[in-house]
Amino acid sequence: MISFDYSPAQKFISEAEIAAIEPLITTAARLLESRTGSGPEWLGWLDLPIKYDRAEYKRIKAAAKRIRKQSEVLVVVGIGGSYLGGKAGLEFCQPTPALPIRGGRKKHFDVVFTGTNLSSDYHAQVLEAIGDRDFSVNVISKSGTTTEPAIAFRIFKQKLEEKYGKAGAAERIYATTDKAKGALKTLAAREGYESFVVPDDVGGRFSVLTAVGLLPLAAAGIDVDALMRGAADARIAYKKPFAENACYQYTALRNILKNKGKEIEILANYEPRCNFIAEWWKQLYGESEGKDGKGIFPASVTFTADLHSMGQYIQDGRRTIFETVLEIDRPQTEMLVPKSEDDLDGLNYLAGKSLDYVNKKAAEGTRMAHIDGGVPNLTIHIPEASPYYLGQLFFFFEKACAISGYMLGVNPFDQPGVEAYKKNMFRLLGK
Ligand code: PA5
Repeated sequence: MISFDYSPAQKFISEAEIAAIEPLITTAARLLESRTGSGPEWLGWLDLPIKYDRAEYKRIKAAAKRIRKQSEVLVVVGIGGSYLGGKAGLEFCQPTPALPIRGGRKKHFDVVFTGTNLSSDYHAQVLEAIGDRDFSVNVISKSGTTTEPAIAFRIFKQKLEEKYGKAGAAERIYATTDKAKGALKTLAAREGYESFVVPDDVGGRFSVLTAVGLLPLAAAGIDVDALMRGAADARIAYKKPFAENACYQYTALRNILKNKGKEIEILANYEPRCNFIAEWWKQLYGESEGKDGKGIFPASVTFTADLHSMGQYIQDGRRTIFETVLEIDRPQTEMLVPKSEDDLDGLNYLAGKSLDYVNKKAAEGTRMAHIDGGVPNLTIHIPEASPYYLGQLFFFFEKACAISGYMLGVNPFDQPGVEAYKKNMFRLLGK
């Protein structure tokens, strides 16, 4: 199981404070499990690891196979909760996450995410990168009416139709949307696209374990059975009593720290494959907690790169920060520091040591420095970067987020604030 270590934060928090918050966490968790807290109509994600449409799940795996057979590129069109989980999972599990150079293997299957912005340059670059390769499209929108993916879908649908004709394009378009309503649902039914459902009781940012995340991940060749197994094990583990429950403990610690004025949580990692886990996590917590003038501000850094940019602020700036570190215990590869004859850089004392050994020492040294600088440190240990532990991690953060929302006294499942920019944009566009 992934594990949680708050011992490095002990300088900032007493056992009495943890004992005092424990019953509040347990009560909030009970509200969640009994579906008596706010937003009970949005709790489908709680049982998703075991309660899902088996027939659709089979279709997802079959569609993934077909996509790999018919294309070299899958263009995923979606924004917010309709893409972050898939992208996070892909980068976490792939051996070479998002590297611009994909040497080594002859033929690659690429998954590219679009509809996440309104940049003409970005979309033109994606089209250019696809070139004359065969491609398929997975358009994902629960509402079916979100502007960014709707525009991107028009662009890629048009390209598909130019390349394969209308009927050929329809065989390469996969729509993930509401089961009954919305513009995308209507279009998919009319054009005969294979469709997958975002369940009514699962909101966008909690939807990674539905077709929203599963189809892009399966198409990329990631073992979604292992992912679901990890989430199912987490679902059981995170019902246990507080003392054995890493999820409840994380929730408790972040809430105690917030009450002590640590209103910014930085999710840090030492492996670039975790960068999009952080992006997914920021949306999950930002949209769930940030309302009614409340909420911990979620930020992220990737170390050691950001020690050379954000490191100064974290060490020495305003003391409103705490840090949660994602640490992957075992890397997938071993790389050793080479020996140099002349030792001009003075690094021969590390020759023969693994890069991961140096990385872990950097993490340890940073943790000590940040604690000395007044930044409490929490660590989530992930045994390895596999789909199974990813499933655990997704569920861990989702449940901790929902309980944190209840602790704050907000409805963690709505997002009234995201409408504000849309109103202005539509007025300016003359809608
Ligand atoms: O979490 C959410 O609900 C949002 O981030 C949505 O996922 C995002 O706005 C995209 O919405 P839709 O899937 O309806 O296009």
